[in-house]
Amino acid sequence: KGCKLVGCGSALPKLQYSNHDLAKVMDTTDEWISSRTGIRNRRLLSGNESLNGLGVEAAQKALQMAEVEPDDVDLIFFCSSTPDDLFGGGPTVQNALGCKGNPLAYDIRAACTGFLLGLVSASFHIRSGGFKNVLVIGADCVSRHVDWTERKICVLFGDAAGAVLLQACDCEDDGLFGFDLHTNGDGKKHLNAGIKQSEANIVNGLVSGLMLPSVSASISNIQMNGQEIFRFVVNAVPETMEASLSKADLRVSDIDWLLIHQANQRIIDSVAKKLEFPRERVISNLENYGNTSAASIPLALDEAVRSGKVKKGETIMLGGFGAGLTWGSAIVRW
Ligand code: ACO
Repeated sequence: KGCKLVGCGSALPKLQYSNHDLAKVMDTTDEWISSRTGIRNRRLLSGNESLNGLGVEAAQKALQMAEVEPDDVDLIFFCSSTPDDLFGGGPTVQNALGCKGNPLAYDIRAACTGFLLGLVSASFHIRSGGFKNVLVIGADCVSRHVDWTERKICVLFGDAAGAVLLQACDCEDDGLFGFDLHTNGDGKKHLNAGIKQSEANIVNGLVSGLMLPSVSASISNIQMNGQEIFRFVVNAVPETMEASLSKADLRVSDIDWLLIHQANQRIIDSVAKKLEFPRERVISNLENYGNTSAASIPLALDEAVRSGKVKKGETIMLGGFGAGLTWGSAIVRW
């Protein structure tokens, strides 16, 4: 069995904040942020917006492009590390899309690499023969989990959702040529947002005398050693891309577009340079949205497709990295 990309979509919060806006409320400058990262603006969730709402909008656009009805979707991966509900966003998104027949819908939580892992997992499901139309949604609202007084982290992120529809096809139309995925849990110390557990109090049962632990927990804001992540990524991403090329028996010159997780323009430029990939074939929209975590790849893909930059039949090297640490690459045909 083969699988191919047949639709994409994206959704953004309404409110935009520029570097100049941030400089009004914290000790930073447009010059610092843009020269170190390439970021100039970001969208942040507010008011009555929800991450699930963005995920639904992105998924609806992908379905419309593919001309597939919600009822024909038989699996949804909601790739997010910052869902509206601790128990996940997949089921809520499935319900809001109105997919009849209760198709399987669940979350994949792998930070900025989440979408890439969802995409490859979707391909396994389709190749198994049990699924025909799989929605892969990457959605994150990292702004809820940063300390807005910690300038070296909060300026980097934005909120968004992106989605693709992967569909079963004959082998000769297959649109996922090769992939390479990794995790190194030791790298968690460089990037995490752990649970803060309060000291356990004991609730004394009034009647029975039974003693129950009463523990409250909250999630810490994101902690990141940016320099360690940077050093790691500029080597690991070109290596994983070389591995995907080798598995697919392709060369860099066979690839039309390079699309790396949009975290830092200097990372994107460094990876492209190491692979000797032409600059004009590198997709980047980081300037407008910042690092949107699991949404970044499908958001950039959607913009590139809808603007006519990426054309039907062209090949794209996708590269992701993020907390875990997780990283990897996949070669797809649009
Ligand atoms: N405005 C002004 N000054 C700042 C700011 C700011 N927003 N933030 C930090 N600074 C200052 C620091 O205090 C420091 O000052 P000092 O030298 O007086 O101490 C100086 O700027 C340099 O800070 P560094 O942290 O060393 O800056 P660096 O050049 O490493 O850039 C950055 C930081 C942009 C975070 C970079 O390291 C990076 O992009 N790393 C990769 C991060 C990444 O890609 N993460 C992806 C995964 S995200 C996920 O999975 C959730």
